Amino acid sequence: MRSMAPGALLVISLLAFLAAPASLRAQSGIDAWLRYAPLDDSAKLLYKNLPRRIIPLGSTALMRSAQQELIRGIRGMLGVTLQSGSYVPRGDAFILGTLAEVRAAPLAIALPADLDDDGYSIQSLTLASHPCILITARNDRGVLFGVFALLRRIALGQPLAELNDRQNPYAPVRWVNQWDNLDGSIERGYGGRSIFFDSGSVRSDLTRVGDYARLLASLGINACAINNVNADPRILTPEFIPQLARVAAAFRHWGVRLAVAVDFSSPKSIGGLDTFDPLDPRVSAWWRNKTQEIYAAIPDFAGFVLKADSEGRLGPSAYARTHADASNMIARALKPHGGLLFYRGFVYDHHLDWRNLKNDRARAAYDNFQPLDGQFDSNVILQIKNGPIDFQVREPASPLFGALQKTNEAIELQITQEYTGQARHLCFLVPMWKEVLDFDAHASSAAGPTPVKAIVAGKIFHLPSGGFVGVSNVGADANWLGNQLSMANLYGFGRLAWNPDLSANEIVDEWTRMTFGNNPHVTTTIEAMQLSSWRTYENYTGPLGLQTLTDITGNHYGPSVEASEQNGWGQWHRADADGVGMDRTVATGTGYIGQYQPAVAKLYESLADTPDDLLLFFHHVPYTYVLHSGKTVIQQIYDSHYQGAEAADEYVRQWKSLEGLIDDQRYSEILMQLEYQAGAAQVWRDAICNWFLRVSGIADEKGRAGHFPGRTEAEAMALDGYSIEDVTPWEAASAGKAAVCARQAVTCSAEFRFNGSAGSYDLDVEYFDTNNGAAKFKLFVGGRLADTWLADDHLPTTKIDGSSSTRHRIHTIPLSPGDEIRIEGSPDGGDRAAFDYIEIHPASN
Ligand code: GCU
Repeated sequence: MRSMAPGALLVISLLAFLAAPASLRAQSGIDAWLRYAPLDDSAKLLYKNLPRRIIPLGSTALMRSAQQELIRGIRGMLGVTLQSGSYVPRGDAFILGTLAEVRAAPLAIALPADLDDDGYSIQSLTLASHPCILITARNDRGVLFGVFALLRRIALGQPLAELNDRQNPYAPVRWVNQWDNLDGSIERGYGGRSIFFDSGSVRSDLTRVGDYARLLASLGINACAINNVNADPRILTPEFIPQLARVAAAFRHWGVRLAVAVDFSSPKSIGGLDTFDPLDPRVSAWWRNKTQEIYAAIPDFAGFVLKADSEGRLGPSAYARTHADASNMIARALKPHGGLLFYRGFVYDHHLDWRNLKNDRARAAYDNFQPLDGQFDSNVILQIKNGPIDFQVREPASPLFGALQKTNEAIELQITQEYTGQARHLCFLVPMWKEVLDFDAHASSAAGPTPVKAIVAGKIFHLPSGGFVGVSNVGADANWLGNQLSMANLYGFGRLAWNPDLSANEIVDEWTRMTFGNNPHVTTTIEAMQLSSWRTYENYTGPLGLQTLTDITGNHYGPSVEASEQNGWGQWHRADADGVGMDRTVATGTGYIGQYQPAVAKLYESLADTPDDLLLFFHHVPYTYVLHSGKTVIQQIYDSHYQGAEAADEYVRQWKSLEGLIDDQRYSEILMQLEYQAGAAQVWRDAICNWFLRVSGIADEKGRAGHFPGRTEAEAMALDGYSIEDVTPWEAASAGKAAVCARQAVTCSAEFRFNGSAGSYDLDVEYFDTNNGAAKFKLFVGGRLADTWLADDHLPTTKIDGSSSTRHRIHTIPLSPGDEIRIEGSPDGGDRAAFDYIEIHPASN
């Protein structure tokens, strides 16, 4: 065939692009839920009478963003380009302005009197007999938020006639934290390199920072601290502050204020003092001057985040001072400028003696901060993680929320999925957050119910500030968090920070429609997957309040049951041959339960009343203890792991039903991710079940744990070049061992003969994909090449363990008894083409 001229090819692909329905065109995910994809014709009909003009009454940068966003959104979804104009009482229009601007216009309209800062009102009304839509607010940020709210309504196909939507944010603090390092890496970030920093400086191109601020603004988030809480003191050097000012400028026209995390020893490490004692006047003067220097460059600077006396960070204990001494001193420097100091409540001793059964890390936040209630200044906010440990797959609400009456609080939620699958596993966290936010801490006998959300918003004890902080950690990858579906967590955090009364269903429905469109099969499928995913992840990792059961001293990713034990980090579950769980009772345990208010403590102190989901967080019981569900603890451990792995497999099937209904790019990316997850869920299932089977000695009454039909271990194959090695921890590999190819070998092989009946089969090869090379695998059946693949994924380990263990499925292979199955592995760099087993099942399709 004659080759085609490049120009002709371009025209053809352009035509193909234009012919494809817009919703099916390739999507990188960069626009997340702000895609403004064209609505279908019937939905467009709903909006046929919308105004065609837009009249901004103000001219600030924020107001321009609001105007441009409205134009962009309406053009994208409805194909109509709004014309900008100035106000004349003639013709229909969208009118955007602050309350003051509307009054000055003047427009003869009754204006809402009950708007708070950042709140907005969207009203459809008639002006000089022309239908108009007015978006107004106390401040221009509120107007921008109103525009996003209006566009959301259109994306969701909600009618706009008779509109009178008035919303105030639930709390003043709606912040995100990024844990970005100045070298461009991100602590616990899974979406690529930093959008803020590179090689020790702020990046020259801040386009993505603006894009991020736009996403945040669409949710009503009003500030972002951009660097790691394990802060590099250089962030406050005179060379850095002008660079920060550039980030602040990129944020500003989206109404997002800049904050930074600071290092408590800065006066000494970069300030030239010989001390950082918070009570030394030279130290407070240093912070005052530094703060002034920042505000001179960034007048709307939001404040500091401080991690002190935690995980090796220096803090006031160096001078025997209190957390109140430390935070007030810095807060007083910020106060004249209106800045806030977020002091992290994540303070604990990571050198606890595990042999002492009374020791308990969970007690730490309360023990450190409750005695200081009443001693913090009005612009200090105590930033408290949702649970008492550290973002585990399930924890009870921190007792500290219910124990402070005079201290501003913010709840810290982790959007980035550190212990919840690192964006390789689907895990929608809104249902988890809702449980904590709605948890009644019984903080006041006078006030009626005191849900955590109301406490942190300052509503119960009438505090000046407080609210919600999400550790977001987006990166420069096109999909921001490392996985398209994980973006529902960022969306969900922002929506809850605005209105924690929204349900998980409402939130996921909004997100799904805005991200993938309104096709009912698409929305039902994705929403069901998202809503079940936390339970699924919990089921195959650490159920019953065991916490995640991962490698807690390492990468926090794959299974490693004993990593929690016998070290000072205090994430103990105390599983041994006789029983499992931490006794945190007042009667016989660590006394942690006594930190809750009496009504809550009474519930958790009682073994019989403690909910099954948290049982092992609070109590140590024998494996034969019977749960409310009627099952024994050990049987529940087996059952939940099998259910979780089965549900993860099911996600793949559910996702495949969406082929052709969403764009190919996101369809295939997510399919790959879900297939990986289904394999990893099986690794988890087997690791945890095998561990508990061996340690408890109690069989799975359904006969599954320890029995693997169709599985041939590498150890049982005829090996050439491969040798068998022990894997650590042992539960991370089937039978504790893997076949590992000699480093210097070009190719190693292993073979066995199929001894089942003739038929069509799927072959699962469980191999170890370490991130220090890209080994090559080939699989031959009866001497013929059936498949070949590269172990080139970027899993967080160089080791042969549960984090690198990966399933490769080869579909629909005809097999006859006696067929020879041979795997060949070629090492690359540090990746030694290791594998665990091959499992053969009747073909699934
Ligand atoms: C977790 C996380 C750390 C982080 C810490 C914190 O422990 O693993 O990387 O520094 O939380 O919140 O300070």
